Formats: sequence, C-alpha cells, structure tokens
Amino acid sequence: MANVLTISGQKGGIGKSVIAVNLAACLAVYEKKILLIDCDPQGCSTAWAGADDAGHRHDMVSVFTGKARFSDAIMKTPLPGLDILPAGFGLFETALKLSERAPNQTILRLLIQEDAPSGYDYIIVDAPSNFGFLSIMAMAAADWLIIPVCPGSPITAACDCLLKLVQYIRKNHKIPLKIGGFVFNQWQAIDDILRVSAMENMARIADLAYDTHIPYDTAVEKSIENKLPLVLYDIKSPAGAAFLHFAKEIDLRFT
Ligand SMILES: Nc1ncnc2c1ncn2[C@@H]1O[C@H](COP(=O)(O)OP(=O)(O)OP(=O)(O)O)[C@@H](O)[C@H]1O
Ligand SMILES: [Mg+2]
Repeated sequence: MANVLTISGQKGGIGKSVIAVNLAACLAVYEKKILLIDCDPQGCSTAWAGADDAGHRHDMVSVFTGKARFSDAIMKTPLPGLDILPAGFGLFETALKLSERAPNQTILRLLIQEDAPSGYDYIIVDAPSNFGFLSIMAMAAADWLIIPVCPGSPITAACDCLLKLVQYIRKNHKIPLKIGGFVFNQWQAIDDILRVSAMENMARIADLAYDTHIPYDTAVEKSIENKLPLVLYDIKSPAGAAFLHFAKEIDLRFT
C-alpha cells in the first residue's frame, strides 16, 4: 500500500503546492512511483508539475460524479514515475454538493483505498487552505500530514487550529490521521529558524520538524512560471537541492 501524505496547513500561500509538487518530483527522481492528487480547483500543482491537461478529459470531478474511473483520470507528467490526478476547476462546485453530507469528508480516502491503481509508493495530496470541505477531505485521505512552517505567520496559533481539525477528523471518522512532520519553508537564514525553533511554545513543532529546510529561492518562482518542478527546471538551485534532500528524509521516515 502507498503511503498517503497530505501537505496541509490552514493558511494560504505557505508553500503547500510548491512542496507537494517538488517533493513528488524528487521522490520520482529517486525512482519511487508517485501519484500527486491536486485537491485545489486553482489547479496549481497540476500546472506546476508540468502536466499538460489540454485534451485530458477527466479529473477529480469526473471521478466523484462517477463519469470516470479513478485510473482514467490519472495523467502522466514529463517526469517518469510521477503521475497526477488533476482537480478540475469544477471541483469547487462539486465540493459544495458533497459538503452537504458529513460522511463525504472521507470520499477521497475511500476512493484511494478502493480504486487507486496499485504500485504507487507514495500518494501526495495537495490540500487547499482554510477549513472548507476540500481541505478536510484532503486531510482525511491521509495517513500522515506534512505541514509547512513559514516565516511571519502566527505559527503556533495556526498549528493549534490545525491540530483541532486533526482531532475532529480522528474522532468523527475514526481515522488514525497522524502528524508526519513540519517543514520550514521560505526562510532566508538558518539563524532565524534556530531562533524561532528555540522559543518555548515552539517545542512540539521543533520536535517534529524535518532537518531539511527549504530556503527562500527565486528559482521556485521561475520554475512555477515555466510550469516545471525544480528538478526539471534548475536541480542545482538551493531550493532544488533542498527538495532532493527533503525527499530522501521523507523516504527514510516513511519506509
Ligand atoms: N521556497 C520558496 N522560495 C521562494 N518562493 C516560494 C517558496 N515556497 C513558496 N514560494 C512562493 O509562495 C507562493 C505560494 O506558494 P504555494 O502556492 O505553494 O502556497 P499554498 O500554501 O499552496 O497556497 P494556497 O493556500 O493558495 O494553495 C508561490 O507562488 C511561490 O511564489
Ligand atoms: Mg496551494
């Protein structure tokens, strides 16, 4: 069975999609077989993974509405070993309907368990922000949550909210959802990370933080503009190298 990792966080713009795409791409470079599931109607991870969805007829909406099987909606990307299940813009409307029934919060988890093709080492889910239906659905699909920590955001308060949501999912759906770790993203200086990590109320976050920090790097923005993961755009950039390291660390933790 694949490990299902959801990149999650309540706040917008903290790098969930950047991390989902580049972690998935780097694991594929290490010859792991990866399915990236885009749960955001914005479709960022679909575009940034380099998947060309022009002419691709199916997406999450087709799967949820029974118009396509899970495997029919999966697309290849330019990177061997990395496949993607696109969200589709219509997912926002489908989500409105699905959200009328609380048990639907586990719809993606059930689909992965019952219909996802075998052979994937990791399924990486890119969750949208906030506490909406799609965010809860993406989290409830996971075995483990990976949570980005960004400079400037109210880290511990955001974490408290997220952990309450984890409790909600565990209690209401009897899902053994676990925190798979915090990853520092977009920090300019290691000293800032060390200073923040040493703060008393950061202890539980620091304990579960990955050794790898993803630095702020303009190559990230350029790779996004070019709609390619860093390993295909600039593997030697500081963030590219960090993501390769991070993928190794993740693989060590989960295999
Ligand atoms: N390590 C980084 N270095 C430089 N820029 C970064 C880095 N990580 C993220 N960014 C920038 O932050 C922006 C927001 O990142 P991203 O879209 O991944 O966040 P998100 O949490 O997925 O946002 P949303 O909540 O809207 O889905 C990106 O467009 C990118 O420009
Ligand atoms: Mg995103």
